[in-house]
Amino acid sequence: MSERRPGLYEKLIRPLLFRMDPEEAHHFAQRLLPLLSILKPQSGGWQISPRLATKIAGTRLANPIGLAAGFDKNATHTEWLSLMGFGFAEIGSVTAQPRPGNPKPRIFRLIEDEAVINYLGLNGDGAEVVAARMRAAQPSLPVALSIAKTNDPTVVGDKAAKDFVTTFSAMKDIPMLFASINVSCPNTHETKLQELDMLDAVFQELTKVNSNHIPLFVKLSPDSDRELLENVVSLVSRHRLSGYVVGNTSTDRSMLKTTKDTLTKIGPGGLSGPPIRAKVVAMIRQLCALKQKEQQIIACGGITSGADAFQVIAAGADALELYTGLVYHGPYLPFTIAQELAEILEQKGMNLTEAIGSAVGVVAASV
Ligand SMILES: Cc1cc2nc3c(=O)[nH]c(=O)nc-3n(C[C@H](O)[C@H](O)[C@H](O)COP(=O)(O)O)c2cc1C
Repeated sequence: MSERRPGLYEKLIRPLLFRMDPEEAHHFAQRLLPLLSILKPQSGGWQISPRLATKIAGTRLANPIGLAAGFDKNATHTEWLSLMGFGFAEIGSVTAQPRPGNPKPRIFRLIEDEAVINYLGLNGDGAEVVAARMRAAQPSLPVALSIAKTNDPTVVGDKAAKDFVTTFSAMKDIPMLFASINVSCPNTHETKLQELDMLDAVFQELTKVNSNHIPLFVKLSPDSDRELLENVVSLVSRHRLSGYVVGNTSTDRSMLKTTKDTLTKIGPGGLSGPPIRAKVVAMIRQLCALKQKEQQIIACGGITSGADAFQVIAAGADALELYTGLVYHGPYLPFTIAQELAEILEQKGMNLTEAIGSAVGVVAASV
């Protein structure tokens, strides 16, 4: 496959956006999204190859490339997301109560690494407001919902599980592809949600109120070790969840080119972008060997090309999501990835569903 050349976004728009504070640039770029309806992706137009069709929890998707949680936290842009080439989008994370998040500045670009560190701390409008917005919205693509615990040090133990239930109950009548249970945000007061007792309680309470049988996925940290994965798989199986999103941002910074000095100045936060991809691929491979056949994996972390997408699919993912790549490569990145991935599949004489797990000898779940 030929090397991708910098496009209009990298040459003209990115330098302008990178002069702005990253969080302001994000809101500014979001406001420009409606313009995509009068523009056209440079390469390949709007065509998405039929080879790319996949299924998540029984729903057919035109392509496996989804928007990761965090870009449209409050469901304010669902109308425009299909114009970027996404096959689905995860809204949120939504929490029971509205929260302002951590003090600014709290998003940082690591340009040398094409990465981002964010310390947002689950800011958002809260479940009631986002639910009303989602009910009124006309999303242009299948939408999933990410739910998280309200970032509040007094919401712990039983209260934490109840907090998830409050959010889910406010939104469970809305048609959605799946709900992703975010227990792996590294930017909150406590990071103990991935502990097994807590997970057990959260899964149990959510499945109890899941009268509409919304497929439930759990979003894990890419820093999870094998023992934790084994235990999570047994909980996911016991509570009959649909699968895993692998994964969230990382707290590991050992692989970065960015200097220690700069990282110290940035302070705490979750790392996203290409530096975390190797961890994500390794974790998908491990999970693929541990999970039950019908459970699905959605890959997320540092995917910016068709080759990256093929790598996570071949390692066992049924679909993938991205966020940070948009910052460095612009709004049409999903279209570009779709085109590159279709080329790779064509060369190999495969459809996407045949490629799932092909590097690890797994046959895709037929859900
Ligand atoms: C600014 C920012 C905000 C995020 N907010 C959320 C969030 O609210 N919920 C969540 O589950 N993940 C959140 N994430 C994590 C992403 O969904 C994703 O897991 C992570 O960025 C790795 O993918 P990427 O390398 O393609 O960005 C956020 C990421 C960034 C960069």
